[in-house]
Amino acid sequence: MSKLSITAGGLKLKNPVLIASGIGGYGAELIPLLDLEAIGGVVTKTIFEEPRPGNPPPRIAETPNGMLNSIGLEGPGIERYEKEKLTRLEGLDTRIVVSIGGYGPEDFAKLAERLDDLDRVDAIELNISCPNVKEGGLNMSTHPNLAEEVVVATRRVTKKPLWAKLTPNVTSISDVGRACLHGGADALSAINTLLGMRIDVDRREPLLARGMGGLSGPAIRPVALAKCFELVRALNCDVVGIGGVEDTSSALEFLVAGCKAIQVGTVVYAEPQVPVDIVAGIEAYMDKHGFTELSQVIGTLKVEETLLIGPKATKAK
Ligand SMILES: Cc1cc2nc3c(=O)[nH]c(=O)nc-3n(C[C@H](O)[C@H](O)[C@H](O)COP(=O)(O)O)c2cc1C
Repeated sequence: MSKLSITAGGLKLKNPVLIASGIGGYGAELIPLLDLEAIGGVVTKTIFEEPRPGNPPPRIAETPNGMLNSIGLEGPGIERYEKEKLTRLEGLDTRIVVSIGGYGPEDFAKLAERLDDLDRVDAIELNISCPNVKEGGLNMSTHPNLAEEVVVATRRVTKKPLWAKLTPNVTSISDVGRACLHGGADALSAINTLLGMRIDVDRREPLLARGMGGLSGPAIRPVALAKCFELVRALNCDVVGIGGVEDTSSALEFLVAGCKAIQVGTVVYAEPQVPVDIVAGIEAYMDKHGFTELSQVIGTLKVEETLLIGPKATKAK
């Protein structure tokens, strides 16, 4: 057992650093770029039952300290994913979390039932929060009851750890998180991208063909951190922190706030080595502060309770 090992949302990880969904394709694409066995795991790009063409271009735009994307969950469908993508990860000593999508609870359940039979799948992340799907990807994580229905339907058909990925585009993320936990989720992954937009003023057209897209990168980190802290504090549950992690210090912010693990996204496009560097950086931080287990770091934020805003759990989990 390494001192960086941790159990997050029912999944044992050798360290708390994963790559976020949609960043490294289906995982194997990252093999030449970084040592995947040095990190805790990879969340693969959201897969639907049927192939999806995604949105028309332009689908990417730069923003201050981040980017907008409206890829629209392009993908080959579960059949080809299983045969051509997942098999390429056989034998790799890192956790594989498979992100799934759908248009309603039955779609999620169908995929989860199929993945339940596959040993290579260590956990399932439910992407109920993609802003780029016309058919209503976002709806499911903006309504607590819809989110819960998705979790309940998938929980019924799989024993694998289930992580529900939440959108920040809501007034109360803890209401949605609570519903997911009630439905049987083992962890909440937060956050997916924030809805954003850019405009070319000379042409007076949006930079993305679909008008709006998902904002990611360091620009969203303070929002992500606030949402994660709200979830930890209000629900006292396992949270996987995502959003703008770009180095050791930003990863540690999420852990100190109470997240059990973190996922690294946009920065990997520019610097694929960053997740591996963060693992080494967390270890160096622990040595510097004399911590021998990651639990001595997680949730150690010093706060004056009476001054804080936001909901607080009334009883321990
Ligand atoms: C190009 C791109 C594609 C993405 N595709 C997915 C996806 O398929 N499923 C998903 O749950 N999140 C997807 N995301 C969201 C990321 O997993 C992550 O939640 C978000 O980018 C915030 O993290 P970051 O700021 O570190 O990038 C995507 C993000 C980007 C930039």
